[in-house]
Amino acid sequence: MTSVVDSHVLPSGGGAAPALALSGASKHFGAVTALDDISLEVHHGEVLALLGDNGAGKSTLIKCLSGVHRLDSGSIAMDGVSVAIHTPADAQARGIETVYQDLALFDNLRPTDNFYAGRELAGPAWVPRSLRLLKRKRMTESTREVLARLQVELPDFHATVGLMSGGQRQAVAVSRAAAFASKVVILDEPTAALGVRESRRVLDLILRLRNENRAVIVVSHAMDHVMEVADRAVVLRRGRKVGELIPSAETYTEIVSLIVGGGE
Ligand SMILES: Nc1ncnc2c1ncn2[C@@H]1O[C@H](COP(=O)(O)OP(=O)(O)OP(=O)(O)O)[C@@H](O)[C@H]1O
Ligand SMILES: [Mg+2]
Repeated sequence: MTSVVDSHVLPSGGGAAPALALSGASKHFGAVTALDDISLEVHHGEVLALLGDNGAGKSTLIKCLSGVHRLDSGSIAMDGVSVAIHTPADAQARGIETVYQDLALFDNLRPTDNFYAGRELAGPAWVPRSLRLLKRKRMTESTREVLARLQVELPDFHATVGLMSGGQRQAVAVSRAAAFASKVVILDEPTAALGVRESRRVLDLILRLRNENRAVIVVSHAMDHVMEVADRAVVLRRGRKVGELIPSAETYTEIVSLIVGGGE
């Protein structure tokens, strides 16, 4: 039987309300309890790692925060104010952007079109061509601006993302989230399947987001990456929160043992 050990529960930092707080969240899929009474928070300028073995409930949790799934019970607050997030549009309107585990990029589109897919500035066909071209120019400029700010270098800015490497695609996806997330960026396994150099780029992006005072939630199985970028770690096991720790050399073994359920 796993439970939240008191010494793992850390006081919430600072006086400011968390950028995002989840309280008493539960989610079932038929007979499966994917989330069981989970509470957690992430502050502005903080990277929270969400850890746990396969099937622990990590993706479900972030999908609930992103409006893909609806919580069965529990509540979400942003900056201390209770919010209803029932659809992805609700989450986006509140400044939450998510990079899902399967990335969800359009391979046949260029970075700019991926950035603005579903929120094109160009407008419908009846908008005069000259105006559409102008807006398209603005979309391209602002995509370039975000990529430059996050120091993402693409060999060919106009290539479709299907032709890019895993790391470049990941960088486009994270930058897109960063471009539109005024408050919270959620990344599900952002460095999975990436090489050392490409992982490095994504980790640097995460640290830049934190420096820009965004709240970041990162799901990862890569412990070395977690140790490097996370300010705090929440561990899930079979849908329950089993620990909350500050990643460090001292807590490393404890975190791993919480993930795999050591001592059960
Ligand atoms: N849409 C769904 N319908 C039914 N069951 C689901 C659905 N999504 C997730 N589950 C179940 O909920 C549990 C948690 O799954 P989830 O994807 O959240 O795990 P995870 O921690 O992200 O795992 P991984 O590390 O493998 O990505 C699993 O038992 C899974 O089978
Ligand atoms: Mg997952």
